[in-house]
Amino acid sequence: MKIFISGANGALGTDMQNVLRKQDINFHATDINQLDVVDFKKTNETLLNYRPDVILHFAAISNVDMCEDNKEHAFRVNALSTLGLAIIAKKVGAKILYVSTNFVFDGAEEKSYTEYSQPNPINEYGRTKFLGENYVKDICDRYFIVRTSWLFGKNSKTFISKFLVSDNKPGSIDVICDQFASFTYTVDLADVILLLIKSENYGIFHIVNKNIGSWLDFALRAKEIMKFKTEIKPIKTEELNLPAPRPRYAPLDSKNFEFLFNKSMRKWEDALAEFIKSISKSSL
Ligand SMILES: NC(=O)c1ccc[n+]([C@@H]2O[C@H](COP(=O)([O-])OP(=O)(O)OC[C@H]3O[C@@H](n4cnc5c(N)ncnc54)[C@H](OP(=O)(O)O)[C@@H]3O)[C@@H](O)[C@H]2O)c1
Repeated sequence: MKIFISGANGALGTDMQNVLRKQDINFHATDINQLDVVDFKKTNETLLNYRPDVILHFAAISNVDMCEDNKEHAFRVNALSTLGLAIIAKKVGAKILYVSTNFVFDGAEEKSYTEYSQPNPINEYGRTKFLGENYVKDICDRYFIVRTSWLFGKNSKTFISKFLVSDNKPGSIDVICDQFASFTYTVDLADVILLLIKSENYGIFHIVNKNIGSWLDFALRAKEIMKFKTEIKPIKTEELNLPAPRPRYAPLDSKNFEFLFNKSMRKWEDALAEFIKSISKSSL
């Protein structure tokens, strides 16, 4: 199996590369410095030349506020590049796996979203990722759309991941307490992605760690385990005046994965404990 990865130096991409390396699977990893996926001509040439069996499309503008402030750029990277890769996947006969988000949902009701819930994005990030989903569905037959939520891991740019990894922790941090969703450890997600692409079970999959929480719950649990001194102060979303609106309650429920693969993901609390163990080891 030959695998092509876009956005390979990001949070998910780096753990995906580790998983593939451990299994001795052939892959071609690219990020913006090697291949800008918004350049269709070059992407097309690269992939016609490499002829992968599977395309893992991870490249994205994953910063939600950046998408709101740079709508055209977000559209080009999140939506148009996906149109390009879907067309190329069809041409070379490759499976394609596109990573999407719980932000395709509006979060207006207090219930988890299944693969059968109706998307209704409320910000530019969610809108552009949903466009990407539709291109993949319309153009390809052999596709996996993986919706995930609130990634954490060694290379994640999310505020809390960076805080946990940092050796110089501040005296206090403000952590949002009034948004609720699922968390996903990038290592667990990479493991499931390998399982999906080895299969012929195509479709939409919600892949997240089990249990729901806020970033405040997450930070407090990390503090319990790591025993750092930083004071965790709850803050409400509206106090931060962020450019992009956020879904208030958008946990994901993994109906398709559990049915088709007869497996379920571990709880985020257990995945967090393992993540903390891994960063404590690497800083010794
Ligand atoms: N992070 C989350 O909480 C989250 C939640 C749900 C879904 N997702 C989705 O999961 C996927 C992986 O997320 P992640 O957290 O690993 O994101 P990430 O760390 O931001 O990784 C994405 C990578 O893509 C690169 N990239 C940006 N524009 C590109 C372009 N035009 N051509 C090639 N590469 C480009 C980025 O480079 P730069 O760093 O230089 O921009 C980055 O290295 C994304 O599709 C994201 O939308 C993420």
